[in-house]
Amino acid sequence: MPQFVAYTKDIPEGSSRKIKLKNGEETQEGFVIRQNNRFFAYWNRCPHISLPLDWGSEDFLTSDGKYSICRNHGALFQIETGECVDGPCVGESLEKIPLKVVGNKIMICPY
Ligand code: FES
Repeated sequence: MPQFVAYTKDIPEGSSRKIKLKNGEETQEGFVIRQNNRFFAYWNRCPHISLPLDWGSEDFLTSDGKYSICRNHGALFQIETGECVDGPCVGESLEKIPLKVVGNKIMICPY
């Protein structure tokens, strides 16, 4: 069942936002990034050792906005594909969450 997570205006160009997704009784964290007016969503779990990427900062991007970053050991990920291009998990990838923009709503289909 698709879940509404945010309005498109709530995630300005070049920014990211943490989201919480319900799966029955469980709530899991993910994040959405807006880049070049496209939206990408990933689970908040680093492929290195399964820690949340943001380390509580709720910021998932490098200062230049070119990559997603894991704040634990500095892994860098391509925003579009989630592939790690630098750091301890090069070649591995963030796990993508299927996402759909319906009008001005960002909908996630995680399960
Ligand atoms: S936990 Fe993400 S780089 Fe180590």
